[in-house]
Amino acid sequence: MAHKSWFSVVACFSFLIWSGAVRGEFYSSVDKMQDLAQVEQELLKATRSYLEQQQQQLEIYMSYVEQIKEEHDWAMEQVHLDGYLGHPLHAFRLIKRLVQDWDAVIFLPITTNEPKEGGLLFLIKKRKIITLRYDLFTEFREFLEGITHDLGYPDHSELQGAIKGLARLQNVYNLSTEHLAEGDIGGYMYESVLHWRDCYEIGVQLFDLGDYRRSLEWLQEAFVILRRNPEKDEQQQARHVSDIREYAALANFELGNPIKAGNLLNRILDHPQTPDHTAQHSRKYLENREPSKIVEETTHSWSANYTRLCQGIRLPEEKTGNPLKCFLDGKRHAYYTLAPLQVEPVHLDPDINVYHGMLNSEQILSIFEEADKLEMVRSAVSGAGGTRTVRDLRVSQQTWLNYSSPVMSSISRIIQFVSGLDIAGAEMMQVANYGVGGQYEPHPDYFEDILPKDSKGDRISTSMFYLSDVEQGGYTVFTKLNVFLPPVKGAMVMWYNLHRSLDVDARTLHAGCPVIVGSKRIGNIWIHSDYQEFRRPCDLTSDRHKSLAYRD
Ligand SMILES: *[C@@H]1O[C@H](CO)[C@@H](O)[C@H](O)[C@H]1NC(C)=O
Ligand SMILES: *[C@@H]1O[C@H](CO)[C@@H](O)[C@H](O)[C@H]1NC(C)=O
Ligand SMILES: *[C@@H]1O[C@H](CO)[C@@H](O)[C@H](O)[C@H]1NC(C)=O
Repeated sequence: MAHKSWFSVVACFSFLIWSGAVRGEFYSSVDKMQDLAQVEQELLKATRSYLEQQQQQLEIYMSYVEQIKEEHDWAMEQVHLDGYLGHPLHAFRLIKRLVQDWDAVIFLPITTNEPKEGGLLFLIKKRKIITLRYDLFTEFREFLEGITHDLGYPDHSELQGAIKGLARLQNVYNLSTEHLAEGDIGGYMYESVLHWRDCYEIGVQLFDLGDYRRSLEWLQEAFVILRRNPEKDEQQQARHVSDIREYAALANFELGNPIKAGNLLNRILDHPQTPDHTAQHSRKYLENREPSKIVEETTHSWSANYTRLCQGIRLPEEKTGNPLKCFLDGKRHAYYTLAPLQVEPVHLDPDINVYHGMLNSEQILSIFEEADKLEMVRSAVSGAGGTRTVRDLRVSQQTWLNYSSPVMSSISRIIQFVSGLDIAGAEMMQVANYGVGGQYEPHPDYFEDILPKDSKGDRISTSMFYLSDVEQGGYTVFTKLNVFLPPVKGAMVMWYNLHRSLDVDARTLHAGCPVIVGSKRIGNIWIHSDYQEFRRPCDLTSDRHKSLAYRD
């Protein structure tokens, strides 16, 4: 609008100037000179108004950038960037800032069109009335393209991913939308509250993802927050409320409430401030649509156990008379004579044991350093510079480490001493990092029918090292065995995936629960069965019957 009015004024002048130039006789007439004085006056007026509008726009951008800066500075102050990004709401906001907020600042610059030869802009340029600093903009754009190319930039799908992660947390941990929006996660208050716009954005994205029920919850929350802290400008307030109502109408329609949807749309269009709202199009759209049939969400057979165990709830078990007790084991290997193994048996048959204090912080740091080196190599190969920033955003990352570095060779010793198995049959260690909402649904570790061709037998055992503590969530759960394990930094969990007969043991189905707050890092080592003939001899009488009842 601002530009348009300015252009029309200038266009008008150029016409005067041109037509004057054609006649070329201003100086000969006082009347004509008066025309020129008026030209100058109008030019002054228009130019000032134009510059003022530009300045206002700049001020808006500037305050926006300041807001972002504030949140960014606060984030960087958090001891560890992990600490900030390990919070589901922060991770969501960082991605949202990059995907949407920055977009508004950067990609709607003051001018994007290069002045073309000829035409009004060219004229203005030549006369140097106001040349926008196009050179500056070009330089800025090149810089932006440079960093986004080198470091990567989250896109829309990543924003959706973060929001899906939030919804997943809500589903698995029964977190209410209201609590989450207030920064209350599982009863712990975090210094982070959502703005109505954040809630609205989550609602819109969940709608696009087809999760209408949750979408509606978030839209309601957006409405409540907006009502609590209304905009000063009434018209703007009315517009925001209408935007929320429009999506709420669409979600209600999809949930099988066409009447409610209609009422909401009417409230928008009857409102004196928003009669021309896009809701009119939505109304037309819905009029020509059949109300959708509600599709019941499919639930997996494991989901009840999974949810319960992830929440740290164990079913009471029949007393066997022998409760499992932690013990120290100094006999397993000479290596453990002085510093015995701290064993916590968590399940018998199949045996699942947690060995505490297997790795210290320095060893864990070395593992990360090895993983980082590989990551650098990989980024270099794929043509991008290797830096940490963007990588840390991603929800889950995997790297594979062999056993040649000092820290990895000591890990291979640990595995052999504890399990007695031959590390020659081991895959490289998989180092994985789960961010907010990161999870791994129930799965067995064995391959069974889909054994890779050059594989040396199936995965006989799993050793999982916890490389970080997790503030909330991220348990390892065995859905068929009523077992949950909170991650404990430095500990290793071990179990066999195969019976002694080498048949697969279906009871070992396990899962990684979503991380609520924090960042979960684990290292997995799978040992294959072919090298273990003398280490874990096969039973002559098959024990595979034990797990038959647990097969799906
Ligand atoms: C979820 O939490 C609500 C209270 O916030 C409670 O009423 C409900 O029973 C819970 N549902 C489950 C499955 O735990
Ligand atoms: C182990 O990995 C390192 C890179 O981390 C590589 O340089 C080395 O060649 C690998 N060793 C073996 C035996 O594969
Ligand atoms: C759920 O857990 C119970 C108790 O551990 C177990 O008996 C049952 O088989 C499990 N159900 C599924 C589907 O895994």
